[in-house]
Amino acid sequence: MGAEGPESAVVSAAARILAAGGLVALPTETVYGLAGDASNPDAVRRIFAAKGRPADHPLIVHVAEASAIRAWAAAVPDAAWRLAAAFWPGPLTMILPRSAAVSPLVTGGRDTVALRVPAHPLTRAILAAFGGGVAAPSANRFGRISPTTAEHVRAELGAAVDLVVDGGACEVGIESTIVDLSVDEPAVLRLGAISAEALGAVLGRPVPVVTGGPVKASGQLPSHYAPRAALEVVPAAAFGPRVAALRAEGVRVAAVGHEGEGGVDVAVPTGDAGYARALYAALRAADRAGVEVIVMVEPPEGPLAAALRDRLGRAAAPRHELDRGPLPV
Ligand code: TXA
Ligand code: MG
Repeated sequence: MGAEGPESAVVSAAARILAAGGLVALPTETVYGLAGDASNPDAVRRIFAAKGRPADHPLIVHVAEASAIRAWAAAVPDAAWRLAAAFWPGPLTMILPRSAAVSPLVTGGRDTVALRVPAHPLTRAILAAFGGGVAAPSANRFGRISPTTAEHVRAELGAAVDLVVDGGACEVGIESTIVDLSVDEPAVLRLGAISAEALGAVLGRPVPVVTGGPVKASGQLPSHYAPRAALEVVPAAAFGPRVAALRAEGVRVAAVGHEGEGGVDVAVPTGDAGYARALYAALRAADRAGVEVIVMVEPPEGPLAAALRDRLGRAAAPRHELDRGPLPV
């Protein structure tokens, strides 16, 4: 990136707004984040208000370089440095004991903090220019689908954000893997593009996945990442006939991932990485079309399959406790 031109203007504008306590939507390789200065309690409060997120759901602090986590964590075990060397910048979040300087607003009152070095070049430049840590949850209303384009953020949060940085469509498309390193036995709390096997290969020990346990991450709530419409996931082979069966009178069906019948057609790529990249935009497109039922073809096998099954399971779960208001378009 050169020192001149539109990109450097965006980088300095974003860094200035963050320093002034404003909110900036930032592109990352996973999903867009709603960023504010993690050291500024007013900025952190604005993030919770914009998302409608309960105060006890902690935020991830994003930093420019792995070495910067020393300022946020009370202790950094060898396992964290090994994972940082292998996967940062990238779609991995580590839970570590928090340093005394971290605001309890960021951690939801916990004694641990979530840390990540994201990979998107624009956001890395903004973090470097800003110089501190930014708290950034996914830039969606609480419980809803994470945004994977700048347009998704504008449509959902619009006026609540001071600047939306457009970094194009997100490369990965689903949220980062979360690994808990604050306990004796590291465990995956949220599945993502970096599999438990990949973490285990670096650590030289199996890393269990505990996403079904007591809620430590809000991505573990039974209903999360949810479209407005009801969602059903069906095997690829059963897809065509099931769509027809579900087309009861007066009910429009979004045939997501299917080229044939249905209220709306959104083609989803057949590989697991392409499916992840397209998933949230497809669910949003179906919601925008006003359908009542989305029938989604099940994800293909591959390294991302477990994370995709996890997201689809939560997106399809009953969600009476959530605000089902219409998505602004
Ligand atoms: O890919 C991502 O991780 C995106 C991009 C923007 O970086 N961010 C993201 O943030 O997904 P959010 O807030 O939507 O999800 C963060 C998850 C939540 O489920 C939260 O409960 C969990 O991380 N979390 C944060 N701090 C935690 C902690 N100290 N212990 C356990 N879970 C924590
Ligand atoms: Mg989220």
